[in-house]
Amino acid sequence: MKLAGRTVVISGASSGIGADAARKLARLGATVCLLARREDELLAVKADIEKSGGVAHAYVVDLADVDEAAAVAAQLLDDHRRIDVLVNNAARSIRRPIADSTDRLHDYERTMAINYFGAVRLTLALVPHFLEQGHGHVVSVSSMSTQIPIPLFSAYLASKSALESFTRSLDAELGSQGISTTIVYFPMVRTPMSAATDAYDNMPMMSSARAANWLVKAVVDKPSRVTSIPGALGGLGMATLPGVVTKVTRPLFRRMG
Ligand SMILES: NC(=O)c1ccc[n+]([C@@H]2O[C@H](COP(=O)([O-])OP(=O)(O)OC[C@H]3O[C@@H](n4cnc5c(N)ncnc54)[C@H](OP(=O)(O)O)[C@@H]3O)[C@@H](O)[C@H]2O)c1
Repeated sequence: MKLAGRTVVISGASSGIGADAARKLARLGATVCLLARREDELLAVKADIEKSGGVAHAYVVDLADVDEAAAVAAQLLDDHRRIDVLVNNAARSIRRPIADSTDRLHDYERTMAINYFGAVRLTLALVPHFLEQGHGHVVSVSSMSTQIPIPLFSAYLASKSALESFTRSLDAELGSQGISTTIVYFPMVRTPMSAATDAYDNMPMMSSARAANWLVKAVVDKPSRVTSIPGALGGLGMATLPGVVTKVTRPLFRRMG
């Protein structure tokens, strides 16, 4: 019961990795606060956790909505004397070439609305509480494709890169006052999000349960990042030899397009 007595807020807990991570975190003794829009799915995850003897609270919220996000943050602070960890996991993905997006600025706005602003809204609302109690851990969920950029996901990946940058600033500014952060760079994971793309049906992917273990590691061990070896090497390659990496990947990406 490594997380006994700790309260973890996890957004996007109605399906996929967030739901699996919530179940695992509760099994380790955490009180989990589950956030998402779909009430039935959230209540099913809550019921699962309670059936196994865990403690879960469900909060139905559209985190892309300014008022709803503010209200849920106030409710969380009202309901829980302490909140130890925030996992910014809720997101949407859009797969569309840039050449087909020239009249679709709204794709960029709607990915930012949840993946970036939704996460930042919740984080900013909890920062005063974290500072007052002297500790708080923020986990931001990103993608391996910000480490090794790929085509077709410009709106999604830009929003994830923005979240990463915000998370690094949070650590740089408030790390000395007890706020720590982890960025998680998932590779492809078999969830409702990846299932939306038929082309991925036969692609080997990480299971959602295994990906959830990465979030558990982020919450329990609080490393500054959780990543894969290809992701780490890709990040290193892009940081040191971006021209070479781009030249090598371009022919491959042309086939993907
Ligand atoms: N699957 C992959 O291959 C992959 C790869 C890299 C990174 N990731 C990241 O992993 C995380 C989890 O994704 P997943 O694969 O588990 O997909 P998923 O099953 O689609 O989960 C996304 C979650 O976000 C919630 N959500 C979406 N919009 C929301 C909103 N406006 N307000 C509140 N909640 C919202 C959804 O719940 P409701 O619809 O009920 O609101 C759902 O619970 C995401 O951050 C994703 O970007 C996934």
